[in-house]
Amino acid sequence: MAKVYTSILNADWLHLTEVLDSIAASGADGVHYDVMDGCFVDNLSYGLPILHSMQQYNRLPVDAHLMVKEPLRFVERFAAEGTQMLSFHIESDSEPHATIAEIHRCGMRAGIAVSPNTPLERALPYLERLQAEDFVLLMTVEPGWGKQAFISEVLSKIEQLHTYLQTHSLPLHIQVDGGITAETAALCRAAGADYLVSGSYLLGAADPKAAVASLHEK
Ligand code: DX5
Ligand code: ZN
Repeated sequence: MAKVYTSILNADWLHLTEVLDSIAASGADGVHYDVMDGCFVDNLSYGLPILHSMQQYNRLPVDAHLMVKEPLRFVERFAAEGTQMLSFHIESDSEPHATIAEIHRCGMRAGIAVSPNTPLERALPYLERLQAEDFVLLMTVEPGWGKQAFISEVLSKIEQLHTYLQTHSLPLHIQVDGGITAETAALCRAAGADYLVSGSYLLGAADPKAAVASLHEK
C-alpha cells in the first residue's frame, strides 16, 4: 500500500488544531510541511517557529520538504522539532553528500527532491548514499505553490527511476508531490511511486477518510 502525506500548505492556519485532528482521523500517514524561503522558490511559507508550535499538538509523523537555497544549514533544527523525514532539492546550493550525511546523523530519513525540469541524472550519483526507507521526491508541479495542475511528463521520470532502483537493488521509495488526486495518484502508482503527497485534494475533500483511502488503494 502507498503511504499518504497531507500537505498543509493551503490549510486553514487559523484552525490548525482542527486541521491536524482531521488529518489524523483521515488515516493519512503523515503531515507534509512545505518550507519556502522566497529565494529558492518565489514564495514564502513558514519555518521553524511555526513547526515548533505545531509540534506541541501534532502526533503524526512530519515529512518536511525544504524548498530553500541552503538546506544543510537547517537540518539539525528540523530534527530538533521532531521531523522524521526531510527532503532537500538537488538544485539547491547545499552539497548533496554532506546534506544526506547530516540528515542521517540527526536520525531522520533523507529525501532528494527533483524539480520537473531537472533531469533525473542529476540525482542518480547520490542515491548510493541513501539508506533503506529513504526516498526520492519527484516533483509533479513546479515547487512554490499548491493547487497547481499535475505535470504528466513526470510520469516517464518516475518509470525511469523505478527501473533504476530495481536494476541497482536500491530499497528506496519514490515520492510524488503536486496535483495529486485519486486519478493522478493511480498514474503515479502505476509508474512506480509509493509515497503520495497531496494538499488541496485532501484538504478540500468532503470526506477526507474516503479521499485518503482513494490514494492508499491506488
Ligand atoms: C508545492 C508543494 C506541494 C503542494 C501540494 O511546492 O511542495 O507540497 O503543497 O499541493 P497540491 O496537492 O495542492 O498540489
Ligand atoms: Zn511539498
